[in-house]
Amino acid sequence: MAIEEREPGRDPNTAIRAAARPRVDDGHGRPPADASAGLQATRHRRESPEPFFPDFLFKEAIVALAAFIILVLVVIYFRVPLEPVADPTSSTYVPRPEWYFLFVFELLKHVPGSQEPIATTVLPVGFGALLILLPFIDRGPARGARRRPLATTAAVVLLSGAALLTVQAIRTTPHTGGEQAAVGPKLDPTQEAGRLLYQQMKCDACHKIGAEGGATGPELTHVGTRRDAKWIHTFLENPSAIVPKSPMPGYLDKLSHNEIEQMAQYLAALK
Ligand code: HEC
Repeated sequence: MAIEEREPGRDPNTAIRAAARPRVDDGHGRPPADASAGLQATRHRRESPEPFFPDFLFKEAIVALAAFIILVLVVIYFRVPLEPVADPTSSTYVPRPEWYFLFVFELLKHVPGSQEPIATTVLPVGFGALLILLPFIDRGPARGARRRPLATTAAVVLLSGAALLTVQAIRTTPHTGGEQAAVGPKLDPTQEAGRLLYQQMKCDACHKIGAEGGATGPELTHVGTRRDAKWIHTFLENPSAIVPKSPMPGYLDKLSHNEIEQMAQYLAALK
């Protein structure tokens, strides 16, 4: 930087050399002395090569620190909302990644199942590696977007591709209004209350519904096909009355008659 910005003619040697070779700078970035060549030299002035370490890295570190501080402040002053506790029995939950990953998620839809690793691993890792290697591949001194058509085009194409995929992902995400229930039975309010009680009482420590739950007791995913609500109600009150020495605790003294009935209604609906 220091060299390029030196005023023309300041250094007598430059003036002499510039006079001998007008209109062109001497290859060391020193502008020639005469006016028109000086103008040209300004236009073509080489952008100052800034050493990556420590100069550039220092600037980057400051920006990273500022971003980190802002993030911490956001976390402190705007409570980060948590989603409800994961519920394996919910049939209305539409799993979607955070918005900034939506484009990868959408990309996955365009790749045949057998080639899934291409979209989940090869492309992201390859792209990450390319970003890391970029400073070694692109050694040109030019920084401006217009002077680097290849890099600029690649960036524009990639960013608009990602934006397009994101928009597409948002448009194809079903509304979580409830009526869009994908799997599992529709529950009436009584059964829904029973479902919540089932979670609160941690029945899933011993029982499995769908993919989640313990294996001490029998799986209850389709318990409604084996037992009706009346049977389940009686059983929940006192399992040992039906299965002598049952390891399952009785709920007669822990839940009201109404609550046991709600759970029985819920379980009987699992068919
Ligand atoms: C400590 C483990 C345990 C817990 C907790 C538990 N269960 Fe059970 N449950 C069992 C076992 C074991 C059985 C199998 C029958 C037996 O041995 O009594 C069973 C059987 C059942 C059955 C009958 C299934 C069938 O097909 O015959 C139902 C319904 C049931 N449990 C519901 C519940 C509900 C609802 C809760 C929570 C309120 C619950 N269980 C909590 C262990 C448990």
